Amino acid sequence: MSFRLWSLLLLGLSLLTLAQSGPPLRTLAEKHGLQVGAAVEPNLLLQDPEYAQVLAREFNLVVAENVMKWGALQTTRGQFNFAPADLLVEFAQKNHMAVRGHTLVWHQQLPRWVYGDFTPAEMEAILREHIQTVVGHFRGKIAYWDVANEVIGDDAELRPTPFEVLPDYLEKAFRYAHAADPGAKLFYNDYGAEGLGPKSDAIYALLKSLKDKGVPLDGVGFQAHLDLNFSPTAARMAENLERFAKLGLEIHITEMDVRLSGPGSKAERLQKQAQIYQEVLQVCLRQPRCKVFTLWGVSDAYSWRAASEPLIFDADYQPKPAYFALQRTLQQP
Ligand code: GLA
Repeated sequence: MSFRLWSLLLLGLSLLTLAQSGPPLRTLAEKHGLQVGAAVEPNLLLQDPEYAQVLAREFNLVVAENVMKWGALQTTRGQFNFAPADLLVEFAQKNHMAVRGHTLVWHQQLPRWVYGDFTPAEMEAILREHIQTVVGHFRGKIAYWDVANEVIGDDAELRPTPFEVLPDYLEKAFRYAHAADPGAKLFYNDYGAEGLGPKSDAIYALLKSLKDKGVPLDGVGFQAHLDLNFSPTAARMAENLERFAKLGLEIHITEMDVRLSGPGSKAERLQKQAQIYQEVLQVCLRQPRCKVFTLWGVSDAYSWRAASEPLIFDADYQPKPAYFALQRTLQQP
């Protein structure tokens, strides 16, 4: 078959898929003033044309799944590798998508050298240089930065981290990021805080204290890595979001996925998964300060929890019940 015929056939097939699956999520979300995002591995944009196609069709925001983490950007001290992250930003710009930067201060995926024996002054220089260089590199191109990720542990206390040798490292990180790109909105991001409870209380107290000190903090991200037992109920989640909204913070759902594992037939579990996606989206849509709804990946094939099929497209890019549940929800006025 000639290349031309082949392209026509591919185009026909994509139009057919579109016709079958209805309007893309991003088109529907725009009517609500909502951005729908997905976490992306830039190498897949090069390797898998269908991945790039579905991503650009359905989403209007991307977040780097890994390539903007400290370990990826500054594996060796003083040497920055921006190539994969730049590729992602270019793709986003070409497809009119916003970009979320993820993440500047996190206790994981750090390069080994950060665990060295540093004085507070040395750590301050390390943190400042990393944030200035990274945020400065993308200045004007990144709408939101997850400045801090998972700073509060499951015990509701501050987590141990190599940065803690520097007093006020968190506050400083936000200030450095703001200085490097005053146009980017700066976020605190965490998991297991969707509902009310000790961890979410601790995050609330921390963010309130940062706001009280005048730290440039714009919003809070709730990761929403969930499973079929999703507890907080939607009502408790709405109540939780509301108290953060009252602090003046913008609210984002930043990493949603829902593990399919559990009892029951596959069809039942797919329905339950769809219902959980729908509930979280509804909570977001009903909260005026909730502006972003992001999934931690595009298709089950490449998910960090691939075995539990947590996303809205299956490994063959077929939309799952969860996709249609989001679409129906966004179709409501
Ligand atoms: C956390 C991080 C993400 C990602 C997931 C697991 O949620 O914020 O960057 O690493 O864990 O992949």
